[in-house]
Amino acid sequence: MTDKKIVLVTGGAGFIASHLADHLLARGYKVRALDSLEPQVHPGGKRPGYLDARVELLVGRVSDRGLLEKALDGVWGVAHLASAVGVGQSMYEIARYTELNVQDTAVFLEVLSRRREKPARMMVASSMSLYGEGLYRCPACGADDAPRLRPAEQLKARKWELLCPGCWGPMEPRPTPETKLPYPTSVYSINKRDQEEMCLALGRAYKVPTNALRFFNAFGSRQALSNPYTGVAAIFAGRLMNGREPLLFEDGLQSRDFIHISELVAGIRLSLEREDVSYETLNMGSGRPTSVLAVAEALAAAFGSTVGPKVLGEFREGDTRHCFADMTKTERLLGFKTKMSFAEGLAELLAWMRTQKPEDKGDAAIEELRRHNLTG
Ligand code: UD1
Repeated sequence: MTDKKIVLVTGGAGFIASHLADHLLARGYKVRALDSLEPQVHPGGKRPGYLDARVELLVGRVSDRGLLEKALDGVWGVAHLASAVGVGQSMYEIARYTELNVQDTAVFLEVLSRRREKPARMMVASSMSLYGEGLYRCPACGADDAPRLRPAEQLKARKWELLCPGCWGPMEPRPTPETKLPYPTSVYSINKRDQEEMCLALGRAYKVPTNALRFFNAFGSRQALSNPYTGVAAIFAGRLMNGREPLLFEDGLQSRDFIHISELVAGIRLSLEREDVSYETLNMGSGRPTSVLAVAEALAAAFGSTVGPKVLGEFREGDTRHCFADMTKTERLLGFKTKMSFAEGLAELLAWMRTQKPEDKGDAAIEELRRHNLTG
């Protein structure tokens, strides 16, 4: 019998979860992972080599009630990370995404709620994608706005920036706080909103103190390179390593908030440990916008690549233009603040990528979107 606290990590073999496991193990926790080893993410459905040997891995879905009972046995904390994460893919695999992300979470919560012994702490991985567009301000008339998606006619005219509804001038992106109303624009982000609200409501009802962390764009080593629906930094690095140019949607000047995985997992641990912070939604980003073009250029420079990024001038259906985190609430409640620069984070991703042989599947992912009329 161990006196170490056990943390159950659902989706425990994935990119974020495996880093969380390392972080928790280094701090004296015992880690149990529950993961279905989806072949799209884990080639051959095998346990990934990067998962620390001390992690007890249970293979199966979060909706397997028998397995869940076993997984929850003696657990102090739960990090609920299991999800299918391709935003574009969710727009044509609607039923599969909703089953994996919402229905499976429903079963998970039902099992949890009926147990006599419940975990002391829980966190659920939510996503900035539920905001839709971030917050904006018009520099000309000073109006704040939380705009909806850009109209189809505007995108067809290749006018990419959000326009002020008052004076039709371009709006400037502002940091997005948790108080901005959700406006999910993809099946994936609708699923994430549901997961977040279900975990918070049921955590409260069954007295399992829970926090929902809205992850911004996590990047770093162990991103699933064989998965064409992985994040943009890994897609670009994979292409460059195969001598091909990164493909930029729109004009490449759309921005995201990239948070390095090592800092994100520290934030997850804090949210579990801080008993004075419960039933909160918290942004988990760096608070800094970076354009997709800047990501491509920094990677191309780091690889000494002769091929530059290629601007497609096409758009991905449901994509947002800009969103970066207002970290005021997270800093105040958790005392959490990122310190790494984007360049330091990229260096860690690159050092790892050099040990890998990534296949470039980015074209296949874009072709799938085109086939489903999800680009324009
Ligand atoms: C990503 C995650 C999502 C997570 C969210 C917040 C993935 C697949 N999705 O969504 O799970 O909840 O961040 O953390 O990791 N782009 C290109 N060329 C490409 C691919 C993408 O220009 O080849 C652009 C997109 O148009 C978009 C930006 O890069 O503007 C980011 O795209 P992506 O990495 O897919 O992430 P999100 O959609 O932000």
